Amino acid sequence: MSGKLLEVKNLKQYFPIKTGLFETTPLKAVDDVSFSIEKGETLGLVGESGCGKTTVGRSLLHLYRPTGGEIYYDGKPVNAKNIESYRKDMQMVFQDPYSSLNPRMTVGDIIGEPLDIHRLYSNKQERKEKIEYLLDLVGLSSEHATRYAHEFSGGQRQRIGIARALAVDPKFIVCDEPVSALDVSIQAQIINTFEDLQIKLGIAYLFIAHDLLIVQHMSRRIAVMYLGKLVELANADELCEHPVHPYSVSLMSAVPVPDPKMARSRRRIVLEGDVPSPLRMPSGCAFRTRCRYATEKCAEATPPLTDRGGEHFVACWNA
Ligand SMILES: Nc1ncnc2c1ncn2[C@@H]1O[C@H](COP(=O)(O)OP(=O)(O)OP(=O)(O)O)[C@@H](O)[C@H]1O
Ligand SMILES: [Mg+2]
Repeated sequence: MSGKLLEVKNLKQYFPIKTGLFETTPLKAVDDVSFSIEKGETLGLVGESGCGKTTVGRSLLHLYRPTGGEIYYDGKPVNAKNIESYRKDMQMVFQDPYSSLNPRMTVGDIIGEPLDIHRLYSNKQERKEKIEYLLDLVGLSSEHATRYAHEFSGGQRQRIGIARALAVDPKFIVCDEPVSALDVSIQAQIINTFEDLQIKLGIAYLFIAHDLLIVQHMSRRIAVMYLGKLVELANADELCEHPVHPYSVSLMSAVPVPDPKMARSRRRIVLEGDVPSPLRMPSGCAFRTRCRYATEKCAEATPPLTDRGGEHFVACWNA
């Protein structure tokens, strides 16, 4: 690994939600999030449904125009004006391989479309060879190029999605729940494919998933999100084995452990109360309404994400 590929500073993504005839309230889907990703690194991103993971990924690629904050790619600022020149380098693989592939296009054309958009491989033979190379890279074969997406299994469709993302030789891919819709046996194959591609091509990933065991396996570091904010960020094993933020502790306690002795000694922490509406965020720390350690201070001020030593960052007044 050599240097930062992507740096995000104070990223904000607010969606205006109509709350009255003439009134809108900002839904703070991502609020003041900062992190960086090294070249060839995988950063995992976890947190319960609706906490803003997909929005972080989409904002990074300017699929949404960020409300605030800065994004640097290879040290250079990325903004609405110059994003087109970075489109090739940053790609996304989506959760649902069924809806993200055009049913009326052949697999060859689905994979070749980004090449056409970026005006690469205008020579027909070279384009065909590149598509065959990509199919081979993700474990499919050249005969698949003339077939349609509906003729494939879920795992194969996800491979088509990956080949499409790889077509323009990206350096960074947002993988948004890329295996969640697949059978467990197929999940392992796709995870291996992601890992092989990273070794072969040196691609960095932002890897979003619900399954913490998969995220731990895939990632060098993991970031934990709660209601639009990062609450903890650390080395993957360190975070899974010694979580510090009360929210991360509860997340990790829900992970099944293979060793029955360990499983007995570990207490599952079930969080009380519902996730607050992102339109009516609690003051101070957003987690305080479900936190058993919450004090007055937690209601008064938002805890910043601070380094507790060894690049283990936590945003909590009490932990
Ligand atoms: N385009 C949009 N317009 C308005 N609100 C949105 C939009 N996209 C997302 N949101 C809201 O932003 C919040 C974060 O959503 P997001 O999809 O990023 O969550 P997530 O962590 O990816 O959840 P999941 O694990 O279910 O995929 C949610 O409250 C969601 O309702
Ligand atoms: Mg999502």
